[in-house]
Amino acid sequence: MQGKILIVDDLPDLRATIRGILQDAGHITQTVATQEEALEAIRTERFHVAILDVRLDETDEENREGLALMHKIGDLDPTIAVIILTGHADVGMVQDALQPGPNGVRAAFGFLQKNELEKLTDTIESALKNYVGISGNLDIDDPELVFPKIAQQIRFKDLAKPDTSILLDELQELVAKLLPRCKKIQVKMINQGFSGAAVIAVIPWYRTNGKGQMLIAKLGELPQIELERKNYSEYVEGMIGGHRLPKTISVARTRLLGGILYTYAGMEKVQDFGDYCRAARIEEILSTLENLFWNTCEPWAAQTGQLILNQNLRIVFMKHLRLTDEKLGLVLERLIGKNKSFIRKGEDHIALASNPTEVFVNPVKFALDTELRADCYDRIIHGDLYGNNILVDHHNETWLIDFERTGPGLALQDFVSLDNYVRMSLYENIDLQTWLKWERLSMVDLPEFPPESQSISKPFHISQKIRDLASQTHYYDRKIYLTGLLFNALRTATLLGLSIYTRNHALLSACLISEELAKESNHVKNLNCR
Ligand SMILES: Nc1ncnc2c1ncn2[C@@H]1O[C@H](COP(=O)(O)OP(=O)(O)O)[C@@H](O)[C@H]1O
Ligand SMILES: [Mg+2]
Repeated sequence: MQGKILIVDDLPDLRATIRGILQDAGHITQTVATQEEALEAIRTERFHVAILDVRLDETDEENREGLALMHKIGDLDPTIAVIILTGHADVGMVQDALQPGPNGVRAAFGFLQKNELEKLTDTIESALKNYVGISGNLDIDDPELVFPKIAQQIRFKDLAKPDTSILLDELQELVAKLLPRCKKIQVKMINQGFSGAAVIAVIPWYRTNGKGQMLIAKLGELPQIELERKNYSEYVEGMIGGHRLPKTISVARTRLLGGILYTYAGMEKVQDFGDYCRAARIEEILSTLENLFWNTCEPWAAQTGQLILNQNLRIVFMKHLRLTDEKLGLVLERLIGKNKSFIRKGEDHIALASNPTEVFVNPVKFALDTELRADCYDRIIHGDLYGNNILVDHHNETWLIDFERTGPGLALQDFVSLDNYVRMSLYENIDLQTWLKWERLSMVDLPEFPPESQSISKPFHISQKIRDLASQTHYYDRKIYLTGLLFNALRTATLLGLSIYTRNHALLSACLISEELAKESNHVKNLNCR
């Protein structure tokens, strides 16, 4: 296995000797003389192993800079295996220093005396295999040039995005670590999600067992992937025992990237929930929804949850949907200022430009100014339950994926978020007047269905079914549900990637829900939601 190795020593002769040995063994090396140069190199490039001299100033008997550097490297990139190089006299001191401290600070992978350099290549091989986690060369068959594409696509939110060539190296290292028993893989692009991570299909060839089943690798910026891995092991794995959830096979990281290898959901052909709804018959969809909430989500749904009294719903939903007052403010500017479908009617109201006499509550102002409180339940929820994160297999079994937001949350949020998704994404390109009619209908008790096309009435029925299922739970509360719909609709209106139709629908829907909530607080009950 070829490694990239940083050699840190203040003596030029020793640097050259070590470099020679390692290059002969086929490794890539870089040499530096000082702590500062070493840290700079690690900040800009990926190294697998760092060889550090303890005394970085040979003229100073007391110098222990190498040990301090070891800890700084650990902070920057704990996946680097550190090998400490010592003179004979230092051995005892170094052994002490290698014990993990009280705060669990990681020790070096190993140490080597300067008079036993013949052991160097073996030590490096062992570090690559046992610490870094790469052994042998993985043959990556990439006919669609997936890797170069995703090296450009992966979005970085918390860390600075490095050069594409560095990312390409890290991606290759990452898949090699995720699949340590493979000699070859073929990679294919699959649907991208919204998180900025890359999700690819991997067909593995094992060293011992030949070709294996297709797997899914989610590769992305380290903090995001770490969060998903943590949520998966805390809230998914133990509770559900893998029932209709992809199983994690392995996780790995490099300096900047994290990766999770999942089994392929459903194993055979799977469809995105949105596509499934567009194609399937309504009766079938309704039973699939029961299946989704009662079977697939069963271990979460079965929780009693924790009752929280007098919860401020605005804060809960804003936090969960990552909304801010500023983002909400922009909604109005974008939808009223620029696209001209809506007009302002003073501070508190807006109207449709096509029908300026009918006035609606300004939903942004309503959401920000109104005291929306209720007693509610907290429990483990999927957290991002919408079309792309639900897959349906050919037996109509539903599979959940994408656990970045999984964890404790408002018990009704999963229902609300799927309801919002269905209404926002399945009524494609219908005009605002038709939308208004159907949204009004969805607020009415026992609505009658006007004779309109299946494609329009279908999302309506799906949404009604979700509300019906939600209302069968012990934590159902109409005010919370409506408040959830309001904030989810407002969030949809903030999303720039969506069509202007959808954003308009979202804003108009938010208007109607605000009106409903205002009535609700006046104890007017005329709704279908129980
Ligand atoms: N285990 C899996 N089986 C099949 N397809 C998957 C699997 N995991 C992800 N996908 C596909 O990749 C897409 C993005 O994955 P996801 O984990 O939702 O990433 P993101 O966090 O970017 O939304 C999904 O919408 C789905 O189409
Ligand atoms: Mg997703």
